[in-house]
Amino acid sequence: MLTSSIINQINLVSDQINKSKIKIILDNLENNINQQLDGSVVEMGCYVGTTSLFIQKLLINYNQPSNFFVYDSFQGLPDKTSEDLSVAGDQFQKFQLSCSKNNLITNFKKNNLALPHITKAWFNQLTGQELPKKIYFAFLDGDFYFSILDSLKLIWPVFNKKGTIIIDDYNREALPGVSRAIDVFFKHQKVQIKQIENLAIITKN
Ligand SMILES: C[S@@+](CC[C@H](N)C(=O)[O-])C[C@H]1O[C@@H](n2cnc3c(N)ncnc32)[C@H](O)[C@@H]1O
Repeated sequence: MLTSSIINQINLVSDQINKSKIKIILDNLENNINQQLDGSVVEMGCYVGTTSLFIQKLLINYNQPSNFFVYDSFQGLPDKTSEDLSVAGDQFQKFQLSCSKNNLITNFKKNNLALPHITKAWFNQLTGQELPKKIYFAFLDGDFYFSILDSLKLIWPVFNKKGTIIIDDYNREALPGVSRAIDVFFKHQKVQIKQIENLAIITKN
């Protein structure tokens, strides 16, 4: 497995995720790569690229340098809705986690990594046109109810059902909208949802 070596080759560029969770994401991605699944890799909510750098490093090692698509408003979080309200969640406010697209690009350059395809947009303004035609691996990290729901609505129609969707902040008290969106979206779908740390790892049954 390449994951174990890659995890020590790149520094964290923000406190939005830790290496233990990144390793879980990379392990799942590497499994899917080894299955030679058809499609691309997406991250919805890439911020400054903390996780994206590791994903791209792994993809480059497997000769898929142009197969990674990342999305962000680059204006931070949107408005909360009632589904996101939590006494523990006051720290998450509109426009928080704002960074420029250039911050992200600089982090890739500092690590000598080829850039992924970068799209600046609110998720509810994206259409299938801005997405790859098929997706075998998705990491969703939008924090709020509609950010996750909109991401799932976008990727599910083109998702390779042999692949994996990983969503951060599952069952996290401060961000209740994430679990609500997952519950609502998958209510009538036959999927397996496994939780490791606060990651929901979703595969089709
Ligand atoms: C927790 S951060 C992501 C951290 C990132 N995955 C990393 O590893 O550094 C959440 C990101 O999602 C973005 N975001 C949240 N909701 C969004 C939406 N509805 N549309 C576009 N971007 C959104 C924010 O701008 C923010 O950069």
